[in-house]
Amino acid sequence: MGKNNSIVENPFVFGKVVRGEHFCNRESEIAQLCELVRSKQHVVLISPRRFGKTSLVINALEKNKIPYVYVDCTLVDGEKGLMEAVLNDYANKLDNIALLEKIMKKLDFSFSISINPVSVSVTGVKADSLKGVLSQVGKNYVLVFDEFQDVYEKEKNLANSLRSVIQFLDKSVIMLGSKRHVLDKMFLTPRGIFYNFGYALHLQKIGESAFKKFIARWFSKSGLKISEGEISELLAIAENHPFFTQYLCHFVFEKRRASKASVKEVLAQILEMNSAFYEETFNSLPLTQKKALLILSRGGTQVYSGPLLKKYALTSQTLQKALALLMKKEIVDKNASYHILDVFFRHWLYQKVLYQKV
Ligand SMILES: Nc1ncnc2c1ncn2[C@@H]1O[C@H](COP(=O)(O)OP(=O)(O)O)[C@@H](O)[C@H]1O
Ligand SMILES: [Mg+2]
Repeated sequence: MGKNNSIVENPFVFGKVVRGEHFCNRESEIAQLCELVRSKQHVVLISPRRFGKTSLVINALEKNKIPYVYVDCTLVDGEKGLMEAVLNDYANKLDNIALLEKIMKKLDFSFSISINPVSVSVTGVKADSLKGVLSQVGKNYVLVFDEFQDVYEKEKNLANSLRSVIQFLDKSVIMLGSKRHVLDKMFLTPRGIFYNFGYALHLQKIGESAFKKFIARWFSKSGLKISEGEISELLAIAENHPFFTQYLCHFVFEKRRASKASVKEVLAQILEMNSAFYEETFNSLPLTQKKALLILSRGGTQVYSGPLLKKYALTSQTLQKALALLMKKEIVDKNASYHILDVFFRHWLYQKVLYQKV
């Protein structure tokens, strides 16, 4: 992307880690995280999916030149798989095969290393092997375990072994998690295996004024028009949600290159584009859960209001049960109040309410 390029790349990136100028603000979060890391505290970073946990941690560590090894636990299978994931990123970060071999020879299992791309596999794993690997890697690298609750969900024993190793590491470990119901069980209840284990940071959405500046800046830099009013409208529609805001910005930006589409028109197109998926999700749910979603799609915090329950022929108990199941399915979340996680799905549902399709 250059100044002389007439075809500018779309600056609004979604669905992957954002870096550099595509990463907005998070200054206080970065400072807090780095402070914890420097004081060797373990950190548990919690938020719903797509709030920007992965992006935050990676930007915080890279901007501050803190070496780290990153493992995506959604892709990890078993203890051997976990060791290999750690070692593979470690190998990449070391970028020195001879040194890697030398270090690994000190460990208590067999291994082989292939190159281009570098890949480590291990055999003959013993009881203390995981400890050996993490202690070695943890000497110089902060360990980052993304979507950490997946280890616990898939293999409680492995989560237990990890805990007992991490406990004694003299370096901060960062664990990121999205699944509220699992994380609460692990970290926040007194009987959870990670209770009081690290400093729990609850990541919020990006601050509105920072996001406004970010959006305005990219539009003006690319020579495209957007008014302050439109930016506010866009943020209201996307509920300031980092992923959905970027998503909506991306398509508004795309449209504005060709014509003067309004934010609402772009929203309508997005809903249309995704309607098959929303339809399928909605139709797969039992009636009480459908009703619960329609109630939530109205926004507001009064889920249990008498008139609404009456309108949908629900009791507060059936509604509560439906909401609990929707939370398990990660369609709904609750902090101050219940809400639908997918902002555009909520808009789509609300159209149903408006047109009384159900
Ligand atoms: N600080 C940020 N600045 C700009 N966009 C962000 C930021 N954080 C998150 N996003 C948007 O949200 C998306 C999801 O971010 P990600 O870090 O993958 O979230 P999580 O790890 O919580 O699921 C990104 O692809 C990007 O579009
Ligand atoms: Mg992530």
